[in-house]
Amino acid sequence: MNVLVVGQGGREHALCWKLRQSPLLKRLFCAPGNPGTAALAENVNVAAEDIPGLLRFAVDNKVDLTVVGPEAPLCAGIVDEFQKQKKLVFGPNKAAAEIEGSKAFARELCRRHRIPGPSFWVYEELALARSFLDNRPDGPIVVKASGLAAGKGVTVCKNNEEAKAAVAECLEKRRFGEAGGRVVFEEFLEGHEVSLITLTDGRTIVPLEPARDHKAVFDGDKGPNTGGMGVITPVQILPRIATQVESQIVFPTVHAMNRENRRYQGFLYCGLMMTPQGPRVLEYNCRLGDPETQPLLMRLKSDLLPLLHATAEGKLENQQAPEWDKRVAVCVVACSGGYPGDYKKGVPIFGLDRVAQGPDLQVFHSGTSQRPGGDLMTAGGRVLAVTALGDDAAAARAKAYAALKQIEFAGMHYRTDIGARA
Ligand code: GLY
Repeated sequence: MNVLVVGQGGREHALCWKLRQSPLLKRLFCAPGNPGTAALAENVNVAAEDIPGLLRFAVDNKVDLTVVGPEAPLCAGIVDEFQKQKKLVFGPNKAAAEIEGSKAFARELCRRHRIPGPSFWVYEELALARSFLDNRPDGPIVVKASGLAAGKGVTVCKNNEEAKAAVAECLEKRRFGEAGGRVVFEEFLEGHEVSLITLTDGRTIVPLEPARDHKAVFDGDKGPNTGGMGVITPVQILPRIATQVESQIVFPTVHAMNRENRRYQGFLYCGLMMTPQGPRVLEYNCRLGDPETQPLLMRLKSDLLPLLHATAEGKLENQQAPEWDKRVAVCVVACSGGYPGDYKKGVPIFGLDRVAQGPDLQVFHSGTSQRPGGDLMTAGGRVLAVTALGDDAAAARAKAYAALKQIEFAGMHYRTDIGARA
């Protein structure tokens, strides 16, 4: 099979790494890819948002399956365009991807179908949003830009004053453009966060192993939210709670999407908060999480390609349940100085050649670029991530951090407590 992976981050590097191992794979392309995917696939100079360009490439190069990594092309309707031309593509269509593209839609879906989540309120008018804040007791609240904001649209606010500032960023300063033209206030929930990603063709549901992302930039969950600073998987969930997650959240969500004529085919990411009252949906994403993908795919023993192909064809029921490595995987992300705020690009990266990579240890690239001479440079906020497997959390952590210490670039920072709570 010829496969095209769309995207250029750590998720797509991990997808290429896993797909490369499939005996069913013939040619592997990645558009646009990064220096990491270049070692595994043929990087193609077409942007992930250039849907006509990607479709032309897939047709011209006899691509049998296109696997779309990021949310932007999914929400823009890449799947619909490929399907019109009868090109097999993995991912939800535009109507289904709205589950991530509109936080307001996702919250209202939960309300309509009684899927447990935080209380929420949606506003488009600055004055009304401010008045809502003036009339609630002071205290923590979450403010979200309703549309896609590249992982930066969520602000966890300690009080109403912080919430007013976050609302002004969206509705007044238009920091996120159209995406911030609507804000969703959400009740602040406390508990442990778990990411549960499910593979589904809208009928058959295959949950992947649970993972825990660490969203805040600094140790101890301090500082602003990021796209994710590191992950541990698996996460121990009581069997009773796991059943609740499936029966109260995952199954009803897939069912609700069908009921609303938005059949969901692809990876459905449920960001969950485990509260004393039970699991609650914090967010949905219409794709694999990043960095969750990196440790999850390192633990996946089964061939990924037939699972993706069957999902795209709507025949997931014919597939065996995936097998998982029982060991623990820990993934630690190294970021540019200043991230998640402003940061410099083009900073040289040293030491990758000192890391002995293999099936139990991988460095996946997120925001890197390569100079014509071959030097590796930073090109994004999250630059690269080390993922290691170990018999327990301590062993996986020790291996990941030892490898990370070999790598350096000016301004590099990372959390030192990924998976420490396990
Ligand atoms: N790591 C969270 C996300 O992918 O949205």
